[in-house]
Amino acid sequence: MLVLGVETSCDETGVALLRDGSLLAESLASQTDIHAVFGGVVPEIASREHQRMLPVLFRDLLTKTGAKPADIDAIAVARGPGLLGSLLVGLSFAKGLCLSTGAALIGVDHLHAHLLAPGLEQELRFPALGLLVSGGHTHIYRMDSPTEFRLLGRTLDDAAGEAFDKVAKLLNLPYPGGRYLDDLSQGVEPDRRLFPLAYTHNDNLDFSFSGLKTAVAEYLAKRPHLAYAAMPEADALRAGGALALAPHPQELALAAASFNFAVAETLRIKVERALDRERGIVSLVVAGGVAANSHVRAALRGLAQGRGLAPCLPRPALCTDNAAMIAHAGWLALLAGYRHDLDLESVPRGRAVPRDWKRVESAVEGLQLDRSRAEN
Ligand code: KG4
Ligand code: ZN
Repeated sequence: MLVLGVETSCDETGVALLRDGSLLAESLASQTDIHAVFGGVVPEIASREHQRMLPVLFRDLLTKTGAKPADIDAIAVARGPGLLGSLLVGLSFAKGLCLSTGAALIGVDHLHAHLLAPGLEQELRFPALGLLVSGGHTHIYRMDSPTEFRLLGRTLDDAAGEAFDKVAKLLNLPYPGGRYLDDLSQGVEPDRRLFPLAYTHNDNLDFSFSGLKTAVAEYLAKRPHLAYAAMPEADALRAGGALALAPHPQELALAAASFNFAVAETLRIKVERALDRERGIVSLVVAGGVAANSHVRAALRGLAQGRGLAPCLPRPALCTDNAAMIAHAGWLALLAGYRHDLDLESVPRGRAVPRDWKRVESAVEGLQLDRSRAEN
């Protein structure tokens, strides 16, 4: 089964082709440099860029793989949660392609796709506990199968990625600055008492990062010399320049390491609590952009191994937004017999994605139905 994945929920435009669950190729265009100077994603610009790039990336994907539109059996599209205008671009593209080729349509929950992404590289084992840490979400789920997720805990305010990006902004780093704080902290022993493990002294599985953010903001307000005088170029930072360009590298590295520790340790405490409560868990999945963070990875890998669970952490490129994970989650849903009609709706941020898919007797039968409809 050849499945096309389409991702346009935020500031990455992506398409990917999957054959029977194996990734053939993907094409991705990041808008981060366009939004960097604004300190966050500008929704109107994001939609415009998706519309500009999506057909170009699709053509590139066909060239790379030698596939033709008519070869595509199903189209998996990220339907939310995300920026509404951006989602509409991806959904319109996917629906148009379904109409012209007869391919089946499956709408994918972007958050579930993040958590299923490790399945592109290793076998997923259920029941799993899933920690989703991205720019917009910090969620803990129980995952009983690729299509059965139960939300156990969530952030009450900022997401972990948002906390990273806001601290980076205070330092005058370009958006999204999470990875630069990770870079700055490499090889530095954190001061474990410098910043609070916010919202851990309770018995629930929710998160709140505003206390930590305030503590870091107050710390930096007293030390204005730590911020970069002029915003460094993202290219220079990506090339490893975060420390070299810092006005006070040692002091900044200590603050960055201590901040990274506070976030990673907070996530570890809550995930451990969830593992204590949930029965039968055999693996721990950590996904989303912040799962690319070296401290978060080390803390949660250690936790999983200490409890005899299989750690499932996708490689960093699969942690951030991409279309391979959308194609993969769509493929799993199709295998389970699910699909959507052409009236599939997009779901903006803050609203739960409904389980409004319909069941067909078998995924293959459903696909054949659509093909014959297209031929008539
Ligand atoms: O999952 P993602 O690509 O987009 C959303 O769906 O939000 O996550 C983006 C987030 C940003 O906040 C970014 O700063 C953060 O992931 N991020 C990191 C790292 N790499 C990406 N945060 C900390 N350390 C990293 N290495
Ligand atoms: Zn995401």
